[in-house]
Amino acid sequence: MKINTVSTFPRIIKEATKYGIVSNAVKNKLININHFSLINDLSQGDRIDDEQYGIEPGMVLSYEKSYKLFKRIKTLNPNTKFIFTSPKGTKLTNDLAISLSSEKNITIVCGRYEGYDQRIIDEYCDLEVSIGDYVLTGGELAACVLIDSVARMIKGVVGNENSVTSDSLMESMLKGPVYTRPKIYRGKKVPNILLSGNHANIKKHLRKTSLVTTLKKREDLLENTKISLEESNQLKSIKKEIINKNIYIALVHYPIENIKGETIKTSLTNLDIQDIARSANTYGINKYFITHPVKEQRMLAEKVIQYWSNEKVRKNDNTKHSSIDKIILKNSLNSAIREIRAKHGVRPITIATDARMVHNMTSYSTLRDRILNIDKPVLIIFGTGWGLTKSTLESADYILKPVGGYYEYNHLSVRSAVAIILDRLLGCKF
Ligand code: ADE
Repeated sequence: MKINTVSTFPRIIKEATKYGIVSNAVKNKLININHFSLINDLSQGDRIDDEQYGIEPGMVLSYEKSYKLFKRIKTLNPNTKFIFTSPKGTKLTNDLAISLSSEKNITIVCGRYEGYDQRIIDEYCDLEVSIGDYVLTGGELAACVLIDSVARMIKGVVGNENSVTSDSLMESMLKGPVYTRPKIYRGKKVPNILLSGNHANIKKHLRKTSLVTTLKKREDLLENTKISLEESNQLKSIKKEIINKNIYIALVHYPIENIKGETIKTSLTNLDIQDIARSANTYGINKYFITHPVKEQRMLAEKVIQYWSNEKVRKNDNTKHSSIDKIILKNSLNSAIREIRAKHGVRPITIATDARMVHNMTSYSTLRDRILNIDKPVLIIFGTGWGLTKSTLESADYILKPVGGYYEYNHLSVRSAVAIILDRLLGCKF
């Protein structure tokens, strides 16, 4: 593969590619790296950058001053693929490195300052690549990362190909822990299975430790990992132990806002009793509180619960009754909070939900992490009618962003919103 680089400081890239496996690949003619300097062609006193049009500060790499160089590279390498390093680019992954490793000729273009004038990007760029969500002072280091990650995917560059194919991030998994001699050091032992000599068992062990490491460190990767049903069940049991959380939900019927912003009580909806109980059971919720201040409404709910708890119905439908057992009827949200506090000896963290955008809302990813790392019970509060009152929202520890599409209409039934929100916060992705 031929790799051209275009940069302000080619020496950074030259130096970084002088060592180890990449330099061997150059010596063995598996890759050929050519460096072009953006500033070599400039006349004395001339600059490659210029002030940005508009109101923002920062210099921009000039279209006019860099054009000649791009044209020359294209003439010398008619089939080259221009890859601009940029924090705006496609995130570099192992899969992208594999795909680029099959190219015959690539030109890595390094930005600096505020980047290139858009017109040269529009004219030449085939792909923009970012090495991560942070900003470097220049693209040279990104080019070094790109060259390294692509080079090791080229056949013959890494001596033992197995060490590439079994490495982290292949097949969307991280590698498990590895060990070397001695077998025991400072009382710490290498796992026996690795010393057993039984290849089939070692292979199974490596696959398992790889999956568990991925689950613990980068669960998001598992979404794209091919795993068997048995492995998926194993991972779910491990995850359940990690979560081992006391998460509660509450459905509030008072105080609630109506369309005019007045405080009202809403009526119980029969479907919310059973459907939300089933969602609660699906996502491992500890208890589902239905709060209503009106005794007759609670009695109505009690009747439904009794129906599904009836011995005869239980026999015919095992799945519904196990969900119905999650329900606790309360006359107020505070009384639900008191019950959780009495059980755990600490007030639960409260998360309010609302279909309307208000200030200070928290994202799902933030709360997902927080729920898993807080050592306290958690209560997720859902409103009926037009939503929870301002004072309920303001007294909660967090207010979750609404779920919904890109349209103005956002009137999901609360039972649909509960299912979506629980899936976003606690749903299994593998
Ligand atoms: N140039 C500056 N920051 C960068 C990044 N994160 N990735 C690629 N090129 C860059």
